[in-house]
Amino acid sequence: MVVAYTIEDLIKIGIETLGEGEYNNPLLDSQLLLCHVLNVDKIYTYTHKDQVVDSQSVDKFLKLIDKRKSGYPIQYILEKQEFMGLDFYVKEGVLVPRPDTEILVEYIIDIVNKGYFNDKDLLKIVDIGTGSGAITLSLAHYLKNVHVYSVDISDTALQVATENSRRLGLESKVTFLKGDLFEPIDKLGLQNSIDIIVSNPPYIPTKDISELQKEVAEYEPKLALDGGEDGLDYYRRIVNGYDKYLSDDGILAMEIGYDQGSALKKLLDDKKTSPVDISKKNHPHCIKIIKDLAGHDRVVVGIRSN
Ligand SMILES: C[S@@+](CC[C@H](N)C(=O)[O-])C[C@H]1O[C@@H](n2cnc3c(N)ncnc32)[C@H](O)[C@@H]1O
Repeated sequence: MVVAYTIEDLIKIGIETLGEGEYNNPLLDSQLLLCHVLNVDKIYTYTHKDQVVDSQSVDKFLKLIDKRKSGYPIQYILEKQEFMGLDFYVKEGVLVPRPDTEILVEYIIDIVNKGYFNDKDLLKIVDIGTGSGAITLSLAHYLKNVHVYSVDISDTALQVATENSRRLGLESKVTFLKGDLFEPIDKLGLQNSIDIIVSNPPYIPTKDISELQKEVAEYEPKLALDGGEDGLDYYRRIVNGYDKYLSDDGILAMEIGYDQGSALKKLLDDKKTSPVDISKKNHPHCIKIIKDLAGHDRVVVGIRSN
């Protein structure tokens, strides 16, 4: 006997199946997966509850529910994630952009819009660790006169970010570069000329990765997560190298882990006051830690004034 399933039946099956898992929102995930299969929006699942779904779509939906139940991130199934009000294409091999990172992007947009760089015709921004292009492309989208040089060591990340720049119509405002941190910036001869260096580098201590949610630990790229033994490897390298590229009134702004604020402040203070570097002009004087809404450290900024 062929069983006919309605939209409502399938959502219920999805909720029951996913409800046994620990890390998802069974109702929302079931709706999103069914919308994906049927190519409809969420409201359709409410207004067409009694619609019978064809058997091919039922099979497809049930397979996706099983995949989701195994911990596979829903963003990789749907191939998208919203960030700063923009739709980003994502796939396995690239970090899914997080809402936390919007704090970093909003800070930069705010400071530019408040006129910090008023005298400049074109701001040069470097983003270290492109990923999907979330930071790079949001800045390119929301800020008028900017060019973003965006570096990643991962081919998959650069391929995804390039596709996102095409979809968002931002190709002329970004240059994607493959390489290790500042290496491609150096090759382009961008010493002493960058107005903003921004980064959300890998910052999870290696031993903590296996304790993250399964969907992160098992499916998101280690290259985007692993910050070395204490999580600070990339910050040490960035702090060690940034001043060669930053202009005299430039800003350095990085996302940090919830408990890394004082470590980052110390890294930047030590750099500022080190005998080798003290004579250099372009050390941002003021180092601040910006917290997220939960009160955790989220962003570190080095800037010349308050
Ligand atoms: C935490 S993810 C951030 C991605 C994106 N900016 C975001 O906020 O969603 C860090 C990124 O740094 C990249 N990465 C890791 N090591 C790198 C290196 N040595 N040089 C450049 N990028 C690197 C990873 O491939 C990954 O895309």
